[in-house]
Amino acid sequence: MKTLIIGAKGMLGHELAKAFLDWKPYLWDMDEIDITNQAQVNEKISDLGPELIINAAAYTNVDACETNEELATKVNGEAVGYLAEAAVKIGAILVHYSTDYVFDGSKKEGYGEDDEPNPVNAYGRSKLVGERVILNEAKRSEESQGLSTGSFAGAQDDGFKYYIIRTAWLYGKDGKNFVETMLSLAEKGQPIKVIDDQIGSPTYAVDLAKATHELVESNQPSGIYHRTGSGQTSWYGFAKEIFTVFNKQVDLLPCTTAEYPLPAKRPAFSVLNSTKLAPMRTWQEALRAYAQERAVDSPK
Ligand SMILES: NC(=O)c1ccc[n+]([C@@H]2O[C@H](COP(=O)([O-])OP(=O)(O)OC[C@H]3O[C@@H](n4cnc5c(N)ncnc54)[C@H](OP(=O)(O)O)[C@@H]3O)[C@@H](O)[C@H]2O)c1
Repeated sequence: MKTLIIGAKGMLGHELAKAFLDWKPYLWDMDEIDITNQAQVNEKISDLGPELIINAAAYTNVDACETNEELATKVNGEAVGYLAEAAVKIGAILVHYSTDYVFDGSKKEGYGEDDEPNPVNAYGRSKLVGERVILNEAKRSEESQGLSTGSFAGAQDDGFKYYIIRTAWLYGKDGKNFVETMLSLAEKGQPIKVIDDQIGSPTYAVDLAKATHELVESNQPSGIYHRTGSGQTSWYGFAKEIFTVFNKQVDLLPCTTAEYPLPAKRPAFSVLNSTKLAPMRTWQEALRAYAQERAVDSPK
């Protein structure tokens, strides 16, 4: 399948490039396309004519989004609409990523794909705009084809095909992330305080990239999918496991969100339940795999 990966220089983008190697993907990032430039998006995408567009480009600095909400909304929201429109025009499948931070974190059983989002920060609001513009484009495309309204399921074969994949607590080799932050803090030999009252599901970028390939290849119906490592933990629990797996002796201390104030509010409990697909491997198994793969790639 002729595949275009946008945001290919990002953390997930790097892993997508590997996971989709069999389809010889075109790899674009800021140098090749600015997704906030609609004319450029239309021109470049219709010139290339991909059958599959995977958008891993985003404005991902959660705290910076608080003071740059306009830009965040442009990149994570409006620009996603440009990609969706361009995909519809050429009949391409669109894969896009969203976040656990579209939820407010008050639901203690975790969130299903159909639960109502209610973001508590600017990043979450901007990512929710991105979800909504895709859903609106799907609805428009369905209506313009005169297909039955009320259910997007009716448009599966002929209409706009899209996957919105919500993920969480992503880490991998090629980006700023919690695992790498903890490992570099460990080198400093000082006590480390980590928040213990926010619960989520760490997700290995390699696993998410492979899960994306499986989703597209198995021709699942359009819709929202939750893809994270299975299980749940706090940031403190995650840090503890990181230091065990990477064999680091660290004086690790739990703290509360109130003790560690950040510009953006975070949901207290943002576990994403996968109600449509089999769960991915556990976050602990994935972390062990990461430690092994990282050791092979950069032996000490
Ligand atoms: N990281 C997480 O913990 C997490 C959690 C949940 C969901 N997600 C979602 O997962 C996806 C991948 O995240 P990630 O962590 O891999 O992101 P990332 O490492 O920040 O990569 C994003 C890439 O997009 C590029 N980009 C930014 N603005 C662009 C624009 N206007 N046009 C074209 N490219 C642009 C960035 O380039 P520059 O670096 O030059 O800006 C970067 O290469 C995103 O949709 C994100 O919202 C991530």
